[in-house]
Amino acid sequence: MIPEEFSGAAIESSTSLTGRKIFLRPFQEADSARLYEAVNQSREMLKRRLNWVSEAHSQQDCLQFVQRASQEKTQGLAEHFGVFDRRAQELIGAGALTRLTTRNASRARLGVWIRADRQNHGYGAEVAKVLCEYGFRDLGLHRIYARMDPANRPYRKVLMKVGFRYEGSLRDEKKLNGRWIHQECWGLLRTEWKK
Ligand SMILES: CC(C)(COP(=O)(O)OP(=O)(O)OC[C@H]1O[C@@H](n2cnc3c(N)ncnc32)[C@H](O)[C@@H]1OP(=O)(O)O)[C@@H](O)C(=O)NCCC(=O)NCCS
Repeated sequence: MIPEEFSGAAIESSTSLTGRKIFLRPFQEADSARLYEAVNQSREMLKRRLNWVSEAHSQQDCLQFVQRASQEKTQGLAEHFGVFDRRAQELIGAGALTRLTTRNASRARLGVWIRADRQNHGYGAEVAKVLCEYGFRDLGLHRIYARMDPANRPYRKVLMKVGFRYEGSLRDEKKLNGRWIHQECWGLLRTEWKK
């Protein structure tokens, strides 16, 4: 059962970005319980790809993330969004444009996750598409890029569906679950963006 404050129109705010099946809006502090539930439900899957998951141990950690996300937006560093199913009005994941730079480079890095029990329904690609549209159209970015673990075949599919191009690989770029892994670099330019 969805608590009253999370149901109906209250959940969708004026700053929503809408897609066909989803809408995205900035996280609110009241989302932290549901965010924690979504992370917990998907913990094993997320841990294979994302380092921050091992630091999200409680609802309080999720609340701190929501607060940090709001500060980063105020500082112009990142735009984090909760991803909601439009029909069920449920939180199904998150998407972000991080490492925002507008002075000389005008770029941002794309990130997205979808809860394990809602994957493979096209949500990931729709989030990426909506965020790219927001980045190019509303933020005026020139370039959006992504980094991915070479084993992350679903994310590669998502990036290709949205039109990203493979740009090369960085060797042993990061440590994930105690192992050094390469990072594939993918990018999409404003001039290549097809709505
Ligand atoms: C990457 C991720 C966001 C994709 O979400 P999603 O909602 O499942 O994405 P979509 O349904 O739009 O597309 C997934 C595609 O991957 C394909 N896929 C899934 N598992 C696959 C596998 N093991 N091998 C190859 N393709 C696979 C699906 O068939 C689908 O392609 P299709 O539409 O052509 O059939 C999701 O897997 C996720 O949250 N992963 C963990 C977090 C992460 O790695 N994020 C990216 C780095 S920030």
